[in-house]
Amino acid sequence: MNDKKYYITTPIYYPSGRLHIGHAYCTVATDAMARYKRLCGYDVMFLTGTDEHGQKIEDKAREAGVTPQEFVDNIVAAPGGVLDLWKLMNISYDRFIRTTDDYHVSAIQKIFKQMYDNGDIYKGSYKGKYCKPCESFWTESQLVDGKCPDCGREVMDAEEEAYFFRASKYAGRVRDLLLNTDFLEPKSRVHEMVNNFIDCEGGLQDLCVSRTSFTWGVPVDFDPGHVVYVWLDALFNYMTALGYQNDKYNDLEQFWPADAHFVGKEIVRFHAIYWPAFLMSMGLPLPKKLYGHGWLNFNGDKMSKSKGNVVDPHLLSQRYGVDALRFFLLRSFPFGSDGNFTNELLIQTINNDLANDLGNLVSRTTAMAEKYFGGTLPGDCRGDEAQDGELLALVKGLRDRYEGQMEKFQFQNGLEEIFKVIQRANKYIDETAPWVLARDMEASGPRLAAVLYNLLETVRVCAVLLTPFMPESCGKIFAQIGAEESARTWDSAARWGVLPAGVSVSKGDSLFPRIDMAKELSELDAIMEEAKKAALPALEVEPFVEEPVDFDTFCKSDFRAVKVKACENVKKSAKLLRFTLDDGTGADRQILSGIAMYYKPEELVGKTLVAIVNLPPRKMMGLDSCGMLISAVHTEKGEERLHLLMVDDAIPAGAKLC
Ligand code: ME8
Repeated sequence: MNDKKYYITTPIYYPSGRLHIGHAYCTVATDAMARYKRLCGYDVMFLTGTDEHGQKIEDKAREAGVTPQEFVDNIVAAPGGVLDLWKLMNISYDRFIRTTDDYHVSAIQKIFKQMYDNGDIYKGSYKGKYCKPCESFWTESQLVDGKCPDCGREVMDAEEEAYFFRASKYAGRVRDLLLNTDFLEPKSRVHEMVNNFIDCEGGLQDLCVSRTSFTWGVPVDFDPGHVVYVWLDALFNYMTALGYQNDKYNDLEQFWPADAHFVGKEIVRFHAIYWPAFLMSMGLPLPKKLYGHGWLNFNGDKMSKSKGNVVDPHLLSQRYGVDALRFFLLRSFPFGSDGNFTNELLIQTINNDLANDLGNLVSRTTAMAEKYFGGTLPGDCRGDEAQDGELLALVKGLRDRYEGQMEKFQFQNGLEEIFKVIQRANKYIDETAPWVLARDMEASGPRLAAVLYNLLETVRVCAVLLTPFMPESCGKIFAQIGAEESARTWDSAARWGVLPAGVSVSKGDSLFPRIDMAKELSELDAIMEEAKKAALPALEVEPFVEEPVDFDTFCKSDFRAVKVKACENVKKSAKLLRFTLDDGTGADRQILSGIAMYYKPEELVGKTLVAIVNLPPRKMMGLDSCGMLISAVHTEKGEERLHLLMVDDAIPAGAKLC
């Protein structure tokens, strides 16, 4: 039996919309770590899933006109959904939990009851703001300009009965865990947690862990009307997915406590403070490590759906290949800090690291082996240690250097170690100049074979260590360089001379084709522009005027039907049209209107329009305007639209509108 166990998790995602590259970032990092540990010989449990309860989901489902369960099913399990994305991105999770799964729901009910019975959950009241028409509870911070975020109306102070978790009781132990152990990393996050939430004024506050203002949650079975707060429900997924308080699984003994939880920086607070406190309350062992990674921004800005700058991993995987995208995410940004995603950086990384450095090394090496030796190196050649000591030493020490970085979750540095070797090997080709050696095969043939063998071994070791990042491409590299299973192992990556003498290679298709930067950027820009437009609200209606107008004032406005006798552009004005109108009085009326960008003058002649005729005359571009034509105005996909109000031509000029 394997006693090397490793349990690693991603956060469980809110299926409130399509997942974006930020979600993929954390999942790819966890996947690389899980694959790395498997490579090292661990029995790995890699958990991911979806966090499906809460008001946000309930609201979104209502907007979409479906039940909350239908809504989440559609995002998680439908084609193009979360499960499909992880399949596409080659995410090797061992288990996928949905918090709406029955076994999880009943486990949460048991956990809640146990905490209630042990006195750590108690009933109190939750003070907040209430919007009567919407029947909704809001916290102070959810209000928009002090008003209901849904309908914009006034809210009132209110109290709701709720259950609280006695977090304050565990403040000291949690503080000790954060300050005196290596539980939370990077270290920079520790002080933020302790200072802001424990050593702050009033200390660590008890946490409200039930709600009565919505129903989409795990019901508190001993008190109908209450549902369990989503974070208590969600955090315990890490244990229920192993079989805690349920019979569905039986892996708790093997895999709990978790070796690593990877989470984004904004949810470190829940994982670093409340999660340990919940576990302490239940008398359970604490996870060994919590790592709070940074955020990916796009062009220096926070990614958000409403800004239309959300980067779509489906799209990028399709364009550049899944491995290139996975590699880019972990190669370009230090895991603990924020990263700035730009399309330029993505293409540059693919071109420099993958096409130029790695792709070139593999294709030059295999092409030369084919060209000079028909693909099979001479049977007596296993490289030349004496002449090539520097390259060999670099390769032989690579696994240890890489391991040091991977154990600290420093993926970028681990990859940097590999790429130093790849760059050195490309330089080695230039130094040894195999094409010169090939000119005299009799004299230099053995040396040429040794050079190529050294290169193949270098590629092999790099490919073993790159496998957690780019599993599919490394499989192709192994096939090209003739590396059997035994030459792909962790153990083999620390050894030199593993490929057999007389190894056969075959040059395959180019692994990472070079991308034309300028062309690609303009195509990506066009796609993002479209996405931005699609993110805009289809139709924006001007806010209604709240201040009432009294009837007599309204009746003073004199609206009349008018017929367009003539219409022309006003000279030197891009905006103004000059209308000559029949208003039924027998005399022509002149009105100027700033609508030249919406209509051609000739298309309006003969139309019956509506004008307000008792406005005082105004001078515009030296011409008198006696009244105003009435239009309908709205915004559609970010563009202002205008339609002149046209009425039935049977209505005579001068007819009063009232
Ligand atoms: O927080 N860059 O779910 P979630 C990097 N359900 N990471 C990002 C990101 C970005 N631009 N945007 C989001 C939740 N993330 C809870 C978790 S766990 C018991 C419950 C990360 O779908 C974010 O930091 O809103 C978080 O770690 C993860 O995506 C899930 O976010």
